[in-house]
Amino acid sequence: MSLSDILHHRRAVREYLPTPIDPNIVKDCLALATLAPTSSNMQLYECYHITDKATLATLAKACLSQSSATTADQMVVFVIRPDLHRQRATSVFAFERENVRTYSPVHKVDRRIKKFDHYYNRLMPLLYTQDVPLVGTARKGVACAISKVRPMQKDVSKDDIRIVMHKSCGLVAQTFMLAMSERGLDTCPMEGFDGAMIKTLLRLPAIAEINMVVSCGVRSEQGVWGERFRVPFDEVYRQI
Ligand SMILES: Cc1cc2nc3c(=O)[nH]c(=O)nc-3n(C[C@H](O)[C@H](O)[C@H](O)COP(=O)(O)O)c2cc1C
Repeated sequence: MSLSDILHHRRAVREYLPTPIDPNIVKDCLALATLAPTSSNMQLYECYHITDKATLATLAKACLSQSSATTADQMVVFVIRPDLHRQRATSVFAFERENVRTYSPVHKVDRRIKKFDHYYNRLMPLLYTQDVPLVGTARKGVACAISKVRPMQKDVSKDDIRIVMHKSCGLVAQTFMLAMSERGLDTCPMEGFDGAMIKTLLRLPAIAEINMVVSCGVRSEQGVWGERFRVPFDEVYRQI
């Protein structure tokens, strides 16, 4: 399938056939989904691939018993994990340090490593710390003050950073759905769910948030509700 075929094939499927799908294909598609870009390459997400029937039944209830969930053969819960920021920053820094050592001209190595060190070992902890009271407000105050003298990213409050993580995780979920579409399998992204119930089910820490639940299976004849509606392209396209 061409990318265009894959994009046209992917639809939000609201009812699946009872046909089982191979969990290894779903797992492969999740591995491909990790190729999606994430902000600062921080990869602050996890995907929970649910194949156990009893867990699927409880998860479907948590998805408000939508038919897309109750008829799914498997489901994937995409979760953001702000609490993993130090771990992830350490991994990215270690990898990038080797990249610099391998691929940078010798006279630039120290300076580039210092930059990565500052970015991942100082700036990222500062940006992603969520659990210290008022740290986000203080960050925003400092950013706004700096922006008076030079261009500055000001969206650094606690909620701004939550949005950053959800954006990146959404790209992972979309990449997963396209990978499934390429394999001829169907999905439905869902945000109609009880997040607290899912967090309890998956034993997630309080700071984790559910980004999306994606149901998976083979579409039934009534699985897609008619033609696809999009507003006219010229309502969303602006060339400047
Ligand atoms: C973030 C997000 C949340 C969604 N939540 C639900 C949902 O809870 N239940 C549902 O049936 N569809 C849900 N959808 C599917 C949309 O309704 C669907 O993608 C849209 O109508 C366009 O249809 P298409 O995907 O077939 O092109 C969601 C889609 C997105 C992107």
